[in-house]
Amino acid sequence: MTSSNADFFGHPMGLRTLFLTEMWERMSYYGMRALLVLYMTGAVSAANAGLGMSQLEAQAIYGIYVGMVYFLAVPGGWLADNLLGHQRAVLYGAVVIALGHLTLAVPIESSLFLGLGLVAIGTGLLKSNISTIVGKLYADDDPRRDAGFTIFYMSINIGSMVGFGICGYLGEKVGWHWGFGAAGVGMTLGVLQYVRSRHLLGDAGLKPNVMPEERRSRLNRWAMLVGLLTAVVVLLFGSGVIEVKASVFAENFAYFLTTIAGLYFLYLYAFAGLSAAERKNVLLLFLLFIAAAAFWSGFDQSGGSLNLFARDYTDLNFMGFDMPVSWVQFFNPIYVVLFAPLFAAFWAFLGRRNLDPSLPLKFALGLVFMGLSFLVMLLAVGVALESAPIGLQWLLITYLLQTFGELALSPIGLSAFSRYSPKRYVGQMFGLWFLASAIGGVLAGLLGGEATDGGLQSMSPIFSYMIQYYVGIAVLLVILAYFFRQKPDERRSEGE
Ligand code: PHE
Repeated sequence: MTSSNADFFGHPMGLRTLFLTEMWERMSYYGMRALLVLYMTGAVSAANAGLGMSQLEAQAIYGIYVGMVYFLAVPGGWLADNLLGHQRAVLYGAVVIALGHLTLAVPIESSLFLGLGLVAIGTGLLKSNISTIVGKLYADDDPRRDAGFTIFYMSINIGSMVGFGICGYLGEKVGWHWGFGAAGVGMTLGVLQYVRSRHLLGDAGLKPNVMPEERRSRLNRWAMLVGLLTAVVVLLFGSGVIEVKASVFAENFAYFLTTIAGLYFLYLYAFAGLSAAERKNVLLLFLLFIAAAAFWSGFDQSGGSLNLFARDYTDLNFMGFDMPVSWVQFFNPIYVVLFAPLFAAFWAFLGRRNLDPSLPLKFALGLVFMGLSFLVMLLAVGVALESAPIGLQWLLITYLLQTFGELALSPIGLSAFSRYSPKRYVGQMFGLWFLASAIGGVLAGLLGGEATDGGLQSMSPIFSYMIQYYVGIAVLLVILAYFFRQKPDERRSEGE
């Protein structure tokens, strides 16, 4: 695939196909997500009528949703590897996501769970598999691979900017369902684009793993059975036949995800027949996993508690124009685009002096930035208690610090998981990386709900608690980083 004449910024043309698909997918994902909690907690009597849910329940639903989106990347990856091939998984995923957003666009209350469920299933099929295809565009020794992933990360942020801008404006200023519809239109454009330019991917991710036909049809039957059972369960919950409180469900979902992850790490460590060196790597990844889950539990507050803080306690009037609440989230992707090159240059600078921090140290740094961001929020809450609304600068600084954390932790996370995983388990370890996001998402919903449940008063204790666990885990990482110091392998990867 690297031989075609035309290229995309010096990269295989297929990268453009994936860039645009991911851009539209993230446009729809973040655009809708920014509106979700605002819609659910909006007053029923408002001109733009919301669902009038409590902030606690709404954020629990938000957490379950974000958790499902990333949890489903695990079976999504498996399906692509074994049955569908990554290219087809992305196609099906994109179509299902578009259908999900278009369902949400139907202005009735009952469209909510069906729409969210479809988006979660579709994203499970798309999100991790599209990154896998990016990797497959390059030969193993192609030096452009990392740059390719950097360009791809830009598509994520350009997409979310467009999403916040368009869906946020339409949803808040015209009507919630117009915003959701815009996300559906965006994803549909992504589908059309993908279908038209999919041939540029060549055979990257085209075929699933080779296996005897008989085994494939057996797996197929199992997959259909599990899929069917899941659909029934989702329908029973979604339609209200089985009634559960979202916050109770979210809590159990968090336990469920943590247990799966814990058992899987335990299996790898103790029962998978790994060598001592491989087991040490598994331990390293386990640490990074905990750090990542903690990090995302703060990061995903953007769609939950920080979104509500922007709505209820922040002055969003800008030269006479009342800015949509969701536009505040615009700043994360802007900061990413602005500061990603600086961060990369900084690591390279340190690398040249042999001072490049180890992986655990970078993750610790990410957590420290996350802690600082909530320290700023603590101050902001203090100011708001005196007199609300407060200025926008508080949230802008909060998001800046969170973005610094993201840049220290997120871009290297995936590559760390691909590099240090025992070879036979790489695909599944990618799944684990997304499982960390899933746990983070559910926790974000639970913590955010508790934070805003009692107005400003309840925020300080929760935010303080979060700061404590970010710092606690960061300190643990720094101490343990010492034990992973002499790893020649790691030095090499860090220099890239
Ligand atoms: N902004 C990133 C994205 O949407 C955040 C993220 C990183 C999500 C890693 C999941 C996993 O892709």
